[in-house]
Amino acid sequence: MFFDRPDAGERALLVHCEFQSKRQMSRAAKVGAHSGDELAANGKPIPLSCPAEFVDLASSAGVEPIELVTTRLKVPSSKFFIGSGKVAEIHALVKQHDIEVVLFNHALSPSQERNLESELCCKVLDRTGLILDIFAQRARSHAGKLQVELAQLEHISTRLVRGWTHLERQKGGIGLRGPGESQLETDRRLLRVRIKWITGRLLKVNAQRQQGRRSRKRAEIPTVALVGYTNAGKSTLFNRMAGADVYVADQLFATLDPTLRSIDLPQFGKVVLADTVGFVRHLPHKLVAAFKATLEEAAEADLLIHVIDASAEDVDDNIRAVKEVLIEIGAGDLPVLEVMNKIDLIPGSQPRVDQAVGSNDAPRRVSLSAYRGDGVDNLMAALAQSLGGDFWRGTVVLEPSQGQLRAQLYAAGAVTEERISPTGQHQLELYYPKGDLARLMAAGNTRLPG
Ligand code: GTP
Repeated sequence: MFFDRPDAGERALLVHCEFQSKRQMSRAAKVGAHSGDELAANGKPIPLSCPAEFVDLASSAGVEPIELVTTRLKVPSSKFFIGSGKVAEIHALVKQHDIEVVLFNHALSPSQERNLESELCCKVLDRTGLILDIFAQRARSHAGKLQVELAQLEHISTRLVRGWTHLERQKGGIGLRGPGESQLETDRRLLRVRIKWITGRLLKVNAQRQQGRRSRKRAEIPTVALVGYTNAGKSTLFNRMAGADVYVADQLFATLDPTLRSIDLPQFGKVVLADTVGFVRHLPHKLVAAFKATLEEAAEADLLIHVIDASAEDVDDNIRAVKEVLIEIGAGDLPVLEVMNKIDLIPGSQPRVDQAVGSNDAPRRVSLSAYRGDGVDNLMAALAQSLGGDFWRGTVVLEPSQGQLRAQLYAAGAVTEERISPTGQHQLELYYPKGDLARLMAAGNTRLPG
């Protein structure tokens, strides 16, 4: 009701500013009226995200990035954030390319946003507004939608209030309230009513979710939550594991809401699988707080599957970003099974399971392709073992004549690696529930070693 979201395909100009040093950056964050957003909870400045990630974010919001303007800044100007020369340059580009929206990779103050809009004669959105817009498009569950709307309303309300105070002062307050109230007053009142309503609904929905978690605990059904950097492949893996048809898109944040499915894990039993929102680097801090509730499912899980895009250039940064958010939501100490996903994009990479050193063969990392399905069986087995199932890991050697047993072991998903000896024997690395494996081997007239 209050927001005009850009239509898909709007022509966008992107603005990214580089700050010259950390000290200057920290000053910059303090000088601009946008304080807070670029500061982490501990008050340290967060390094600004790179233009490439910003372009991805913009595309993810459904706009068409036409131009990227980067500029160096010592400190942001309080009027436009950037210098007035740069504003004139951008204005010319806006006219030249029929730009409909200008996106800033930074948090702008309401007045900076307003000044820029009137100077550039087009819509201006800052990084928080952009991320909120993406969240709004991705939210699927009732709770997720409410949470996005609340965050949007709160973001907008500061803009309404601050943006109009100068007009109010001119008119004076008395005599303008009640039936004769200004449009601004009406908007504000509606905002307050809506915020109150949503907050009430959210309390109810969150109480229901908590109730659900409590009854699962009583029934001793463990919850396993998929977490990971945005676009790592969580929804794809969730679908593979649950056979569910969750919305998957090659865009950031395809999942906003935790989505729950009950799955039957061989050799273990029922498990509740929760898909969660994709994490992102430099998520404005107030948004982390706003979406904490959607991440509660992860914070209260029995085990986390940390899905990692092994083919991404900045794998380590992504892993770190996820770990930081996990600590922030109170899930830093939960057992984690790491999944190196998208191995089909890495030449020579095979499905495999790595164990934690010196801890009873517990699986630590599973390499697979959620998209192709290779290695997903290994993950199911690793999951069952991590949750307490009894698994066998080791090497068996099969003669060339035992092709049928070899095929059955493959079909069951028990083989993690294979080597062929010079004499033509198959040396298979197996990883599978012990009882089932013993039965398979016995049916093939072979015994499990040891
Ligand atoms: P968010 O909801 O944004 O956090 O994304 P997500 O982690 O749920 O990722 P999603 O499952 O939506 O996958 C993102 C993109 O990666 C999609 O285009 C998938 O098809 C692709 N993808 C997922 N797994 C694999 C894989 O194993 N191999 C390849 N090549 N692509 C994959």
